[in-house]
Amino acid sequence: MEKRLVKVGLMGFGTVGTGVYRIIRAHQEDLRKQTGLNIEIHRIFVKDIHKERGISTPTGMLTNNIDDILYDHDIDVIVEVMGGIEPTKSYILTALKEKKHVITANKDLMALHGAQILSTAQANGCDVFYEASVAGGIPILRALVEGLSSDRIYKMMGIVNGTTNYMLSKMSKEGMDYQEVLAEAQALGYAESDPTADVEGHDAARKMAILSTLGFRVAMNLDEVDVRGISSVTKEDIAYGKSLGYELKLLGIAERSNNKIEVSVQPTMVHKSHPLASVHDVFNAVYIYGDAVGETMFYGPGAGELPTATSVVSDLVTVVKNMKLGTNGLGVVAPYIEKLLKSDEEKYSKYFLRMIVEDQRGVLAKVTQVFSDHNISFKQIVQQPYNGGQAEIILVTHTSTKADMDQVMKKMESIDMIHHVKSCYRLEGGAK
Ligand code: NAP
Ligand code: HSE
Repeated sequence: MEKRLVKVGLMGFGTVGTGVYRIIRAHQEDLRKQTGLNIEIHRIFVKDIHKERGISTPTGMLTNNIDDILYDHDIDVIVEVMGGIEPTKSYILTALKEKKHVITANKDLMALHGAQILSTAQANGCDVFYEASVAGGIPILRALVEGLSSDRIYKMMGIVNGTTNYMLSKMSKEGMDYQEVLAEAQALGYAESDPTADVEGHDAARKMAILSTLGFRVAMNLDEVDVRGISSVTKEDIAYGKSLGYELKLLGIAERSNNKIEVSVQPTMVHKSHPLASVHDVFNAVYIYGDAVGETMFYGPGAGELPTATSVVSDLVTVVKNMKLGTNGLGVVAPYIEKLLKSDEEKYSKYFLRMIVEDQRGVLAKVTQVFSDHNISFKQIVQQPYNGGQAEIILVTHTSTKADMDQVMKKMESIDMIHHVKSCYRLEGGAK
């Protein structure tokens, strides 16, 4: 008999899980018209079945026994929105071996174990989709895999962490300092009580590992992403950057040139003429440079109940369409381009620096000499008085290699007249 109903096992019923439940319930008819099948949440796996959730479910739908989902032969698709690495990974692998398709919003899991999950899916003729794992409500993974599949992408820059974008926006607009804005982000529920994954850039790094794997079609490992977070950013850095025409953003940057790639996450001065400089508050955006398409930007909510659930349910629509067509498990394109990573001599960028020096004759000449010894020239330079007998120098360089800039930083530490390099940021946008 032809299948009329697709039964879904929901793993997790927190922020995203309740959003998935609400969207499936509210958009029943639309989903049926698009897929030709009815979609129904059959069981929901949670830790605590007695918890007050502010949403009603039929009696017996909630379970705290994972076997009720993994081994229920009526369930066709698992939606994993419980998070974490274990036991989640084991549950997903079991579900795939039980021939259930999987949708997940779990960037931690996909960044670390995506290859194993995708190959298990392929071996079992199952789909795995994870659109919500990067930039919540923005359909960026589908854009890379389908919309831009005919192009060769050579650079992706992303504001892919809403919490840190909110914090940097507040520091920029209201002159708040880091600790003050972190406390506010925690009070608003954007930053968690342990904010490390967001503020130290790890969350963004996981998303950039996923983006670069799909965009460059290489198997990018998480530990190959250079990561620096925002915990040492000061309101003074932001104010000086602004005075020279830049907004400080936590940018994920994935770049390919001469078939070699580099992927990093770091606070970056973005020139105000670049569209990413105008992405504020908790919003996310991914800016893509392709050989043929030129430049495109994808902007929207990077988290939240309904935006994230929209991506999850759209994945579900794709799975159900595949079920109708009998094409499940055929869509995975494994990375097929050899991964060659750039050395520091091959990584090019412009930089913004702020340093405190002795306010005496010859200092500026000394600073200039160190940079010119490493073939780095200045685009902008400002000097102003600092506390008692010292001066502050703020400068923007032309393009240099990371290796040269690292040498310059080391050399400056050894010069007595240069007291302290307070900050050094990569710089994007503006004239070449
Ligand atoms: P959440 O609100 O903390 O909800 C987690 C749910 O999973 C809860 O219902 C919890 O059960 C259940 N759960 C967790 N561990 C479990 C375990 N060991 N056994 C049984 N149930 C367990 O999380 P969320 O914010 O919805 O996030 C879910 C996933 O989506 C994560 O991977 C996250 O990274 C990803 N994501 C979230 C967002 C967002 O905006 N929140 C955006 C993009 C991606 P109880 O309710 O009984 O405690
Ligand atoms: N902590 C993440 C953020 C949630 O702030 O963007 C979405 O992955």
